[in-house]
Amino acid sequence: MKALVLSGGKGTRLKPLTNTLTKQLVPVANKPILFYALDQVAEAGITDVGIIISPETGQSVKEAVGDGSRWGCSVTYILQPEPLGLAHAVKIARDFLGDSPFVMHLGDTLVEVSLSQLIGRFHETGSDALIVLKEVSDPNILRKVGVVQLNRAGEVVSLEEKPQEPKGRHALVGIYIFTPASHEAITRIKPSWRGELEITEAIQELLNMGRKVNGYFLDGWWLDAGKKDDLLTANRVVLDRFLKPSIRGEIDDKSKVSGKVEVRERALIRNSVLQGPVSIAEDCVIIDSHIGPSTSIGRGTHIECSFVQHSVILENCSIIQVERITDSLIGSEVTLRRDAHKSGNLRFFVGDNAKIEL
Ligand code: DAU
Repeated sequence: MKALVLSGGKGTRLKPLTNTLTKQLVPVANKPILFYALDQVAEAGITDVGIIISPETGQSVKEAVGDGSRWGCSVTYILQPEPLGLAHAVKIARDFLGDSPFVMHLGDTLVEVSLSQLIGRFHETGSDALIVLKEVSDPNILRKVGVVQLNRAGEVVSLEEKPQEPKGRHALVGIYIFTPASHEAITRIKPSWRGELEITEAIQELLNMGRKVNGYFLDGWWLDAGKKDDLLTANRVVLDRFLKPSIRGEIDDKSKVSGKVEVRERALIRNSVLQGPVSIAEDCVIIDSHIGPSTSIGRGTHIECSFVQHSVILENCSIIQVERITDSLIGSEVTLRRDAHKSGNLRFFVGDNAKIEL
């Protein structure tokens, strides 16, 4: 079994963060989203991993992931010159995939699933495609994803990508296992209305070809971290469930720590409250502040006399005397500072596509 992890495309939804940071490298609980996919792949014992990259962001993905040895995998980077669709990504990975079955994982999605279990089910059912499905009641969400129609026996009858009128209530979460029959199906489909070769249509084509397509119904959570609120939710859920408390930085006697808290190497906490779950990355300095709950602070960020909760702050920010930051996603190298002498005046130097709610 091989794995194909998609880390190409354009990260338009998380602008302005993705102006400088690849969507799949945005951190959740201080770890890039893409790394969760690689963790799952490695846990399932897959060692041959292809990663789809784009010309714009490929280099940053390569720098972050390296040769894959940290996961015990060998990584092959496959450059997709343009984001022409998920099935197009499979098409250009044809040489890498050969005639092996493969797990396909969209690198920007967090799904609570065991890939080993999924692979077990794939073999048991003799499927040509095993697709992970989650029941969704909100039609507005269904209109933005791939939707599957099931019959009474729970068998897959048809699939549609981003349907205006969803015929079913089950969404494709972005994890699939295929046999090489998928390659033939992909050669038979045409670009969709949005100009993409859709994997959803390739799976429909497998059905048309009389091949076996089965659904795997997800009990766990599924979070598409491509939007701000989803990213904050993902951060909260992952901190709640997976954060392993560990204090490797320094916390002075005047500070109070409660709940699950991670303080990484060389971080300094002085006279502050850390209300878990909280992750403080390497080299942070937190002075006279309250952090948490549900907050991740990126490497090298300096926070003084401030209160930050339910938020994700990226690397090397400086936050000084800001009373209460809540439900916020703040990019790297941002300075937020209240000027004690000129209260009432707000002075900004804000980049493109920023959103500020006062
Ligand atoms: O999130 C689940 C949904 O993901 C599924 O329900 C849909 O059926 C599926 O088409 C997909 O829809 P999205 O519109 O959310 O896909 P997105 O364009 O965000 O791309 C998903 C990942 O694949 C992301 O990591 C970028 C990468 N990608 C995307 C395209 C279009 C590529 O590597 N190459 C591409 O050409």
